[in-house]
Amino acid sequence: RESIDPALRALRAGEPILVHDAADREGETDLIYHADAVTPDAVARMRNDAGGLVCVALGHDIAEAFDLPFYGEAVDHPATGDHDLGYDERSSFSLTVNHRDTYTGITDADRSQTIRALGEAAATPATTDFASAFRVPGHVHLLKGAPDLLAQREGHTELGLALATAADLPPAVVVCEMLDDETGQARTPADARVYADDNDFIYVEGQTVLNQLA
Ligand code: 5RP
Ligand code: CA
Ligand code: ZN
Repeated sequence: RESIDPALRALRAGEPILVHDAADREGETDLIYHADAVTPDAVARMRNDAGGLVCVALGHDIAEAFDLPFYGEAVDHPATGDHDLGYDERSSFSLTVNHRDTYTGITDADRSQTIRALGEAAATPATTDFASAFRVPGHVHLLKGAPDLLAQREGHTELGLALATAADLPPAVVVCEMLDDETGQARTPADARVYADDNDFIYVEGQTVLNQLA
């Protein structure tokens, strides 16, 4: 039966993994790296091969330590009032950020700098002054994990964070949806598996993660 161990080894080695949430949820497969491993080439792979939104998920306690709210709770606008998602009770979006040493924030070099700095911040929350290291708004979307992680929510946010924690890595991962260039829809799990095989990456089903970590 499928195991998460190869995915944990890949994350530790700085390689990406592919994680499908569930057919009855988003039905999406995200390309996921540990934040520490994100080079400019990794950002290029996310925008070229994945094509979705590049987001960094931070564990709930780390996000709280940095005063990072859920976006919907922080912004007082009528459109945030009823976040009626079809696939979950709420979004995990927090703020958007850029590292202060970036220029525009969007280039592969700039985004990788922001993302790696987020990984470092997650490893050293006590000595990180978030506001002096990062500016808001920026070009990297932050996601905030649910307080009780997979016991509360089964999104890529929580799946990725749970895998990082199980791999003994700080709770900071990059996620980006794999979209199909032909259809514009999410890549099917079968297509995502082909991409994983072609590139020697590990593919793992959300259910496998839930079976072993929830
Ligand atoms: C941000 C998203 C992605 O689906 C991402 O995987 C985070 O969301 P979730 O935790 O709900 O799966 O929409 O681009
Ligand atoms: Ca999505
Ligand atoms: Zn998702």
